Amino acid sequence: MQPKIIIHGGFFSESSQSEDTKIAKQNTLKEILIKANSYLADHSALQTVVYAVSLLENDILFNAGTGSQIQSDGEIRMSASLMDGITQKFSGVINIQHIQNPIMVAKHLMAYDDRVLGGTEATSFAHQNGFQHYNPEIPQRRAEYEAKKAGQGIGTVGCVALDQQGHLAVATSTGGKGFEIPGRISDSATVAGNFANKFCAVSCTGVGEDIVSGAVATKIVTRVTDGLSIEKAFERSFEELKPFDGFAGAIGIDHSGNIFHQYSHPKIVFAYHDGEKIVVFE
Ligand code: GLY
Repeated sequence: MQPKIIIHGGFFSESSQSEDTKIAKQNTLKEILIKANSYLADHSALQTVVYAVSLLENDILFNAGTGSQIQSDGEIRMSASLMDGITQKFSGVINIQHIQNPIMVAKHLMAYDDRVLGGTEATSFAHQNGFQHYNPEIPQRRAEYEAKKAGQGIGTVGCVALDQQGHLAVATSTGGKGFEIPGRISDSATVAGNFANKFCAVSCTGVGEDIVSGAVATKIVTRVTDGLSIEKAFERSFEELKPFDGFAGAIGIDHSGNIFHQYSHPKIVFAYHDGEKIVVFE
């Protein structure tokens, strides 16, 4: 099967972000996509989505890992999850602190019976299992926090991949909304924001509360499983966000290799490789 991959890095808004930021995000996404697509040639979809999301977490342009937004009490708390479309195992961390790559902790948890951990216990688990103490804060986020304004890093990062064996996997990671009440739970480590089975895999970005209300990733995957095309599954699920003005974006791949993305508000920042060409958001 022809491997396929799509990644996202949250949103771009013409009204609140500069042209320079847009170009930087386009170039960075393209670089990460090329690396992840090469990796996919000799790794599984599951290994590849973790690799791609760790690269996105390491880039300060995106609101995940290093460069995460700061919450109302001045602390950074991150969430990430991983789902294997074949085993349908889901693993994740919610509101983890002081580590570099939340998605790597989610990957580590795949081997456990207890696969989703939250809060201080998630952080302790990571540190006890060899993840080094790390400060993901960057000066720009602190300046935004001090100025009490929303950061430029709005969004989340994610990756969906289909490998040579026809297996799908998805990973998603976020620094949250910024200024949230400590303890708030993002969609990114729930099945609303990150879901896969053998028919389809979907990663979301946007306002977590809206994504959970719309059960976006789960609905799209379920609709594809029930026979709808990926385009129609996205269209119908996004239509259902409209009554409450839900703010979301999503990327997905189905078992036949069809790649799709959609967003409700500003542009989703995405890039994909379909085996022949690279397409980057404009
Ligand atoms: N989608 C990320 C969040 O709302 O936390």
